[in-house]
Amino acid sequence: MALDAKALKIAAGQAALEHVEDGMKLGIGTGSTAEEFIRLLGVRVGEGLKVVGVPTSERTAALCRQLSIPLTDLDETPRLDLTIDGADEIGPELALIKGGGGALLREKIVASASRRMIVIADESKHVATLGRFPLPVEVVPFGLRATLLAIEKTAERLGLSLTHEMRLADGKPFVTDGGHFILDASFGRIPEPRALAQALNGIPGVVETGLFTGLASLAILAGGDGIRTIDA
Ligand code: A5P
Repeated sequence: MALDAKALKIAAGQAALEHVEDGMKLGIGTGSTAEEFIRLLGVRVGEGLKVVGVPTSERTAALCRQLSIPLTDLDETPRLDLTIDGADEIGPELALIKGGGGALLREKIVASASRRMIVIADESKHVATLGRFPLPVEVVPFGLRATLLAIEKTAERLGLSLTHEMRLADGKPFVTDGGHFILDASFGRIPEPRALAQALNGIPGVVETGLFTGLASLAILAGGDGIRTIDA
């Protein structure tokens, strides 16, 4: 029987929960898939599981509080055992596009502070080449036009075609938890995610990109035939 999208997210969250052990310090992701994991985690915490979490967004923090999942931050707990988070695309070597929910900066900081990152998603997010999903690029509002020009020039230099639009919310620029804007940059194909991430991160007005390379060590993919895992 075909499972609906929500059931696949729950299945992926359930499988991820098996990697959570008593006493762990967890990075807790953002997005609808991560939220299914958080709900399941909340049930386990209610049953006595002892964990402490660093949320990757205000939205995730609010849900964790609602479910009485104990929270900390990276100042108090700078090293985490495991981060569990969703993704918008999962490509070769578990390179990811993240940031569809706008939380990419905190997500990357938290994943980088973790010994392991597990990415959870439904099968449809697994792609042969990244780039069909527009890459979220977090930018500083100051000097925006100059930053956009620099991003366009960078794409040209790397031989990538680029169309882009500023992310809006209620007709105004979407503002991240860090007070920045997001440019959704469509490259079509990103054959070399590391090179693109490095080049974009070299532009002063770019805070961070949604390209996550070398961070995820395991992908848990839920599909109609069950769960499939991929190691980096
Ligand atoms: C949040 O900023 C994102 O990185 C999410 O992890 C990503 O957009 C996946 O979200 P869904 O699980 O809702 O598809």
